[in-house]
Amino acid sequence: MIVLGVESSCDETGVAIVKDERKILANVVASSLKLHRRYGGVVPEIASRMQLESIAGIFTEAIKIAKIRPEQIGLVAVTTHPGLPGSLMVGIAFAKALALSLGKPILGVNHIHSHVYANLLGYTNIKLPAVALVVSGGHTSLFYIKDFSKIQVIGQTRDDACGEAFDKVAKIMGLGYPGGPLIEKIAQSGNKHKIKFACSRMSNELDFSFSGIKTAVLYYLKDKKSGIKFSQDLAASFQETVVNVLVKKSLLACKRKNVTRLLIGGGVAANGVLRQKFMAEAKIAGIDYFFPDINLCMDNAAMIAGLGGYLYQRGARSDFKN
Ligand code: KG4
Ligand code: ZN
Repeated sequence: MIVLGVESSCDETGVAIVKDERKILANVVASSLKLHRRYGGVVPEIASRMQLESIAGIFTEAIKIAKIRPEQIGLVAVTTHPGLPGSLMVGIAFAKALALSLGKPILGVNHIHSHVYANLLGYTNIKLPAVALVVSGGHTSLFYIKDFSKIQVIGQTRDDACGEAFDKVAKIMGLGYPGGPLIEKIAQSGNKHKIKFACSRMSNELDFSFSGIKTAVLYYLKDKKSGIKFSQDLAASFQETVVNVLVKKSLLACKRKNVTRLLIGGGVAANGVLRQKFMAEAKIAGIDYFFPDINLCMDNAAMIAGLGGYLYQRGARSDFKN
């Protein structure tokens, strides 16, 4: 079955076409990121306006790249939650109108779950059950997945999301937005052992907290000297602490759930240091770990179309009458 996916939960607008749950025929993403930079974060009103302007053109481009006719679409899958309400509404309204005009079904998809599913677009050897770590700008969660229709939350952040912490620390340091790639870049020339940071201990060991380390960076900056070397060491030390926590808790989750497969997804999964750390530590723990391609770590509609197709084939249906 050919599934058209629509993603508009934050500042990206994506339309993708995926065949048989796995094969990407087209994956077009436009971002309004540049327009948000001067504000140091996403401005919802700007994001939804840009999505409204661009979504029809992105759809046309995706159809052209996939070399299909709209009548060949068997299902329209769309992100329904979580996300910015105004942005979600643009994608949902577009998807509803499209499904109605084609006389095809429509299925709502959870954005966070689709970040995990992005792994199945690249690997054919993934078997379930597995533990999954989603680290994005708005969420940090550990899941136990027996089946994509039965996803159990086993850990989550109690305050800031991991990507949010990268973004806020970058803002405090005056680096710009989005913070993740900027921190990773300057951290390359820093000493990761220079400053000792820690993430708060949680009563559920699989939960996360990143607001404390963000505040620690703030106080550190207030107290200490400045300079390029200092910023590099600060960025490297912050990143090292966060990456260590993510790896440690993910491996602990695998141990507790007695699984040997770990799927990682979300924007922060693009981080090279995180990838290397998993490579080293997962091997020692005997865990097979998976990361999507970098472009599939970021928000995109291929993961929505893929998961939508998977769930629909297994009986999931949405009521979009209202
Ligand atoms: O998954 P995503 O594209 O959007 C959400 O669903 O939130 O994730 C965006 C987040 C941002 O917070 C961004 O700073 C972070 O992912 N990010 C990174 C890197 N690339 C993007 N964080 C750390 N290192 C990176 N290389
Ligand atoms: Zn996302």
